[in-house]
Amino acid sequence: MEVNTSKIAIIGAGSVGATLAFDLCVKGSVNEIALIDSNREKAEAEILDIKQGSPLGRSVKVEAADYGSCRDSGLVVITAGARQKPGETRVDLMDRNIGIMKSIVKAILDSGFRGIFLVITNPVDVLTWVAFAESGFPAHRVIGSGTILDSARLREYVARHCKVNPQNIHGYVLGEHGDTSFPAWSLVTIGGIHFNEFCPVCGACADLETFKQNTMKEVREAAYKIIEAKGSTCYAIAQAGSVLVESIVRDERRILPVSTVRKEFKGLRNTAFSFPAIVGKEGISRVMEFPLPPEEETCLYDSAKFVAENVARAGY
Ligand SMILES: NC(=O)c1ccc[n+]([C@@H]2O[C@H](COP(=O)([O-])OP(=O)(O)OC[C@H]3O[C@@H](n4cnc5c(N)ncnc54)[C@H](O)[C@@H]3O)[C@@H](O)[C@H]2O)c1
Repeated sequence: MEVNTSKIAIIGAGSVGATLAFDLCVKGSVNEIALIDSNREKAEAEILDIKQGSPLGRSVKVEAADYGSCRDSGLVVITAGARQKPGETRVDLMDRNIGIMKSIVKAILDSGFRGIFLVITNPVDVLTWVAFAESGFPAHRVIGSGTILDSARLREYVARHCKVNPQNIHGYVLGEHGDTSFPAWSLVTIGGIHFNEFCPVCGACADLETFKQNTMKEVREAAYKIIEAKGSTCYAIAQAGSVLVESIVRDERRILPVSTVRKEFKGLRNTAFSFPAIVGKEGISRVMEFPLPPEEETCLYDSAKFVAENVARAGY
């Protein structure tokens, strides 16, 4: 059976998986979506709800399916598993989600799948490693959504503060998708102007260092706030997932801060973390390896080390 590069399978029909399927349908990003969940009834209900909008939107074939549907899919997006309860960190989910990830990867492989894995389930960096190790796929075909969401949160926060359109803000949060992530201020630009040059001219901040600290805190704590109030996050992560799916399916070669596995990184063994990478039809075609200022290199190393410790704790 030929791989259908415009067909994707989404595992997990919860808040993230169902919202991602909906967003992809609204945008017409792919031709076909198979939605798979251990709770088949839930997947079928989500599909029915999405399908009933089809006369009003784009033509995308969407079905509740089983793992056999992964066989000819070009991409499988994994969103299944436990989510954070209020007050829990992403790493707190590790023990619950590793077993789920292993069983899902096995079921996908048993279907004869030959495409690209995209992992969204948390803790996403450790689980990207688990998907890599359990699948035996080459590293460039196992991608974690990483800090795309955190980077969008950074851009939105800076835009709101500076009263500029978020699309004119560029920048990345790097490292683990979790509490050790950090905004790489050396890469933040506003309308193409480096952050450090824009701010004195703008003059809105009394104290730039305080602004940076507040921004980091807001970005790191965003998910906790949303989960405390409404139980889960779904819209921004679904849009982040759509950007990734489109970049792969349409070979857009966007540069995105995705989580990639590293068997070795500055003396660390077996880690995964986000750094800007070119994402297209082959998966990761290149990680944009470039040096950061020393203080950011230290943050990146510490974050990568934290993930490596958890990967080791997971038994790899
Ligand atoms: N990477 C990110 O930026 C990011 C952002 C938001 C959420 N997440 C993570 O995504 C995951 C899903 O979150 P959610 O809010 O959609 O949770 P949810 O509880 O709404 O949905 C999870 C779904 O997974 C299904 N499921 C559980 N075990 C399964 C299995 N073995 N096989 C198939 N389906 C299974 C459940 O039936 C449920 O429908 C969580 O781990 C969450 O932390 C990641």
